[in-house]
Amino acid sequence: MKLTGPFSQIITMQGLPPKGALADDLLHCIPNGGVLWENGVIVSVGDFNELRRSYPQAEADEINRAAVLLPGFIDCHTHICFGGTRNNDYALRVAGSSYLDIARSGGGIWSSVMQTRAASREELTEALLHRIARHASEGVTTIEIKSGYGLNPDQELKMLRAIQAAGARTPVTLVPTCLAAHTKPRDFEGSNSAYLHYLQEALLPAVKLEGLARRVDIFIEETAFSAAEAIPYLQACQKMGFDITIHADQFTASGSEVAVQTGAVSADHLEASGDREIQLLAASSTVAVALPGASMGLGMQYAPARRLLDAGACLAISTDWNPGSAPMGDLLLQAAVLGAAEKLTTTETLAAITVRAAAALRLEDRGVLAAGMRAQMQAYPTADYRDILYYQGKMKPYRVWA
Ligand code: NIG
Ligand code: FE
Repeated sequence: MKLTGPFSQIITMQGLPPKGALADDLLHCIPNGGVLWENGVIVSVGDFNELRRSYPQAEADEINRAAVLLPGFIDCHTHICFGGTRNNDYALRVAGSSYLDIARSGGGIWSSVMQTRAASREELTEALLHRIARHASEGVTTIEIKSGYGLNPDQELKMLRAIQAAGARTPVTLVPTCLAAHTKPRDFEGSNSAYLHYLQEALLPAVKLEGLARRVDIFIEETAFSAAEAIPYLQACQKMGFDITIHADQFTASGSEVAVQTGAVSADHLEASGDREIQLLAASSTVAVALPGASMGLGMQYAPARRLLDAGACLAISTDWNPGSAPMGDLLLQAAVLGAAEKLTTTETLAAITVRAAAALRLEDRGVLAAGMRAQMQAYPTADYRDILYYQGKMKPYRVWA
């Protein structure tokens, strides 16, 4: 058993309601705190001196400086398994072309598909491990990772196996999601519905059999799949036992309604959500995931995070780290900047990248520092937790326990 501390402050994220706005007086802070843990699981969190007295046999892991401890961050939406780059798309966009125009003219997702298909499984795993290590050094200890740049059964399986192989080589928890329904590939002859049906028959049984993913995602958008095409596919996936998550309302509203209707675990993006979509999400158990990194990468508006919270929704924030729309992949920076733009409380922003991001992945064992939870933790070099958002991502953790 290990006793880590004393920390100037431990922000536990305990006791917060699962949905809706969060006032800052709800944030639970333990001054002069310690964490007792064993085999990666927390035994107790509390006053350091009391823990020292109660567990004199615990091995000391002393923190000899001002430090604030937080749960490890959870990035609940990424596409970090990919080959190549899309720096050309970015240059075209900043010069004035739109994301959808670039997609229609053969750049966009299809360009990453060609580059990812050209990479071996081993190359994808190595590239993934680099990105995972960077995220871990910035306090992210659980990462959701989507496939979706393979877009045929063999190539999607290659991506999911690359994620599985990376997972065996890192202490960071990886949560894979099958996004074969990212867009219909240019080399598939047939309708959108025929492609989705093909995935259902030729890919998803193998994903299940190999235990490669327990979640399925789909992009509902004018350049991808319509609501009417998506619904039967999602229902078939649910019948097979997959959880559902949806790329929803990025440019046009429609996906969030499907998410609520099908009982999706989360609806992600939401830049184009209006009052109606906000009300639907708020009344549901679907987590609303804002992706400020995509707004920054595309130079477009943020998801209406403030209005979602005020309406009563559960809000998570994630990077959407991908080669196209969101190449930056800095979760803390993006959450802090979204919080400043949307007027989120410190509690709301921190919950959105810890306990509420855990809810977006249906993980109940993390995102909070409390007995029985995973000892995924990170320490910042300050005595005042407010510095962490104040520096808008420039202050990084100096130590991370994955
Ligand atoms: O979440 N919107 C669709 N998918 C990704 C972008 C993927 C890409 O452009 O490669 C997203 O933004
Ligand atoms: Fe995405």
